[in-house]
Amino acid sequence: MTTDARAINARLRIGETPTPEELAWFARGLASGDVTDAQAGAFAMAVCLRGLGEAGRVALTRAMRDSGKVLHWDLPGPVLDKHSTGGIGDCVSLVLAPALAACGAFVPMISGRGLGHTGGTLDKLESIPGFRTGLSEDQLRAQLRDTPCAIVSASAEIAPADRRLYLIRDVTGTVESIDLITASILSKKLAAGLEGLVLDVKVGSGAFMKTMDQADALARALVATAQGAGCMTTALITDMSQPLATAAGNALEVIEVMETLTGTSVNAALRDLTAALGGEALALGGLAADPQDGARRIEAALKTGKAAEMFGRMVAAQGGPSDFVDHWPDRLPSAPVQREVPCLRGGFVTAIDGALIGQAVVHLGGGRLRDGDRVNPSVGLADLAGIGEEIGPGLPLAIIHAASEADADAAARTVQAAFTMGDAAPVEPPLIHARIA
Ligand code: URA
Repeated sequence: MTTDARAINARLRIGETPTPEELAWFARGLASGDVTDAQAGAFAMAVCLRGLGEAGRVALTRAMRDSGKVLHWDLPGPVLDKHSTGGIGDCVSLVLAPALAACGAFVPMISGRGLGHTGGTLDKLESIPGFRTGLSEDQLRAQLRDTPCAIVSASAEIAPADRRLYLIRDVTGTVESIDLITASILSKKLAAGLEGLVLDVKVGSGAFMKTMDQADALARALVATAQGAGCMTTALITDMSQPLATAAGNALEVIEVMETLTGTSVNAALRDLTAALGGEALALGGLAADPQDGARRIEAALKTGKAAEMFGRMVAAQGGPSDFVDHWPDRLPSAPVQREVPCLRGGFVTAIDGALIGQAVVHLGGGRLRDGDRVNPSVGLADLAGIGEEIGPGLPLAIIHAASEADADAAARTVQAAFTMGDAAPVEPPLIHARIA
């Protein structure tokens, strides 16, 4: 039987699930270019609106994984990784990959760029001058032997169907689908030949999943699909009702990462979430007795500077400055316009619309509005106030880093709209809501 994209999309449109063979054909077409951008956009929208069901989700994940190469490793330690479903100020990967490596794991972390209103690990790392994320398989293998961690993009060889669909979803408003997120994350992760994977499923205003029910469903879909494919996996559902770091923006988040790695100004939420996720991964890989023991090991790697040293080795191996850990303040780009956003009505911060904060960063140039847009590494928001903080009228909610005064004006209005102020201190949200294993 012949298959074509129009027929697959027409079936999806009326709520039918394409067969595994049809989904495999579509994934190959995404990788080869036989499926056009318009057909891929229509596919993504149809899946968002109609869903694929469990069998379809598993079939799409496998099809996207098999659209490229599946790696196998022969290394003297477990191959581990974590992946986040995406958030604001979520720079955990930059701290966690070197911390896991410092604890004896090998970490071939295949990451993504900004997606929708959320930031992307690759865009953050590329704010480091010279840092290369596009390694070939041979380069990745060579790096892992010398420096046990690497953070790279899905190369043309690994899950190429996701590489293409990811960019199309980013600019077509088709990110928020459990099926597409599962297939996107796991196609890359399963192709990376991992032995253990910890997933950080974000919930709240800055996440794609806004409610606990949605996040729980996504976490269960991810864990079941990954475990079904033979990869030991656990998920933590973690809070995204406010940005994780106090910065949102590429170089600005790298600053916070460096402060935490070097101990100059540790962000407690970033450290604690890194330890919790890392603890799970080390336990999965047999490098810790249990997640709590693993978390202690990650904290020790941060405290002793071993994770910072590993980060420096990774940066140098991937083309960045060899003295980055000692000289990062001089190496990162900074924006020409920096100004405070005044709080219009004083009081306690009771809620933050994370998606609006993310949109402000994207419109400042820190993310993409159209496929192919260049990201400005220096722009974003710093010193963001957190939920429960008391702020007087006129005092700053955040500091805008912008390319122009006009961009800063627009961002200021968005940031002001993102903050809800109240008269009483709210209950502060927990960092971790649930664990799914
Ligand atoms: N991260 C990914 O890699 N893909 C998604 O769809 C969402 C987060």
